[in-house]
Amino acid sequence: MANLEWTSALAVGIPLVDEQHKALIRHLNELAVAIAKRQGETEVQATLTFLVDYTHLHFTTEEQHMAATAYPGLAAQKVEHEHFRSLLCTFHEDLEEEGVTKALADSINTLLMRWLTKHICFMDREFGGFLQSRGIVIGAEE
Ligand SMILES: [Fe+2]
Repeated sequence: MANLEWTSALAVGIPLVDEQHKALIRHLNELAVAIAKRQGETEVQATLTFLVDYTHLHFTTEEQHMAATAYPGLAAQKVEHEHFRSLLCTFHEDLEEEGVTKALADSINTLLMRWLTKHICFMDREFGGFLQSRGIVIGAEE
């Protein structure tokens, strides 16, 4: 079973966002564990619902900070975030239609974890670099 780990390679440099990324990775791993252990559909569903809600909170946080700092990459980020939301939606549909299957377990690794790692590495780190170049510091008060 794949286990995604937060490393400094994923550091964006914004404490609040880095903490949220760690939590997001933790929830994604929990979902993978729930599926690998072949927990019932209700348990997997609950873990997935938590992940969906947390993802929403996280994307909203990022987009608010991007808007507040007039970040030029905001539109592209919104498109990418929407893509991840639709991946989660498809995942949810597959769970409802097929139940807890091997294909579902595989798609966490091949789709969700891969997307998240790539997104943080490239797009979110770019936002971190933008803030740094402007000398903008976002506190961890939220
Ligand atoms: Fe993002």
